[in-house]
Amino acid sequence: MSYFEKVKNTEINPNAIILAVESSCDETAASVIKGGREVLSSVILSSATEHIKFGGVVPEIASRAHTTAISKAVEQAISDAGITLTDLDAIAVTYGAGLLGALLVGVSYAKALAFSLNIPLIPVSHIRGHLSASYIADKNLKPPFISILASGGHTAIIKVDDYYTYDILGQTLDDAVGEAFDKVARVLGLEYPGGPNIEKLAKQGSNNIELPKMLKGKKGYDFSYSGLKTAVINYVHNREQKGESVIKEDVACSFQTSAIDVLVEKALLAVKETGINTVTAGGGVVANGYLREKLTAECEKAGVKLVLPERKYCTDNASMIGAEGYLQYLKGNFANLDLNAKASVSLK
Ligand SMILES: Nc1ncnc2c1ncn2[C@@H]1O[C@H](COP(=O)(O)OP(=O)(O)OP(=O)(O)O)[C@@H](O)[C@H]1O
Ligand SMILES: [Mg+2]
Repeated sequence: MSYFEKVKNTEINPNAIILAVESSCDETAASVIKGGREVLSSVILSSATEHIKFGGVVPEIASRAHTTAISKAVEQAISDAGITLTDLDAIAVTYGAGLLGALLVGVSYAKALAFSLNIPLIPVSHIRGHLSASYIADKNLKPPFISILASGGHTAIIKVDDYYTYDILGQTLDDAVGEAFDKVARVLGLEYPGGPNIEKLAKQGSNNIELPKMLKGKKGYDFSYSGLKTAVINYVHNREQKGESVIKEDVACSFQTSAIDVLVEKALLAVKETGINTVTAGGGVVANGYLREKLTAECEKAGVKLVLPERKYCTDNASMIGAEGYLQYLKGNFANLDLNAKASVSLK
């Protein structure tokens, strides 16, 4: 009997113990999660420091780092969870979106392990993973809710109707918000990854530079970050050309305020227009302290329930892949051994 025939009718266990593997960018991550919401272990081995001198992630360096880190990450996750491989009910793996060579390391590893243990292999979308991080934050969270997706490659306001049905109310028309953070950081001479460094600098600055309001206040839920990024770059270059000083702290703070306020505003607009009174958020930018404070304050003011994943579950991690993998497991969405990595997957 083939591997897939053996696993395709696996009896579904609501308390399933799932090993999740994530290798879409520069983090090699592995996590063990029980019943989709209880994280038993979460290991992240990052190659971020190897990319600093290049100012961004170098795909080949990331892939090579995954090949040496993947066994270590999984072994550590299994041992931290206090289980053995035979306790696993299934293996979830990010198959896209991300860097192809990087994804292939996790996909190949997960395939081989699932095959050798004769347990289901669950293909998981990285983006759905970011949104499912909120299920870890609140064990009782149930759709429907409005979710802010704010990461390095995506920016969207999403109506989550049920565990499997998403309606994208609006998304970025050009750059993603995280990408804008990273590009502005570069102009300010800050190291990769730019987001956390902008946040640090912004704490010492003021929001006193006039920047374009983007699509703020306009009807609808779409975003545009390319104009904001260009305005910041032009501001810095103009002042430098005139020999005027640039107060980097103020640039960081003004940019951060513009970039984040519009996300919060659109999420609350979605609450108002849909009548759905719960907001969640996911993606690396949701680790941003200003976003977290502003969203908390605005939700409180409007009487809206807010569920925010811990910072460590906002940036890339495998626990979120396990949370989403569990939902796919309940549906019996199992992959065969021909599962391939995909550089892009649809948001839905
Ligand atoms: N504290 C922070 N403030 C602002 N931005 C941040 C912060 N921490 C991380 N980021 C940004 O989050 C992004 C990384 O998030 P994430 O890891 O989810 O992106 P990705 O996996 O590369 O893209 P995607 O998830 O869309 O495929 C980077 O652009 C980074 O600058
Ligand atoms: Mg991500």
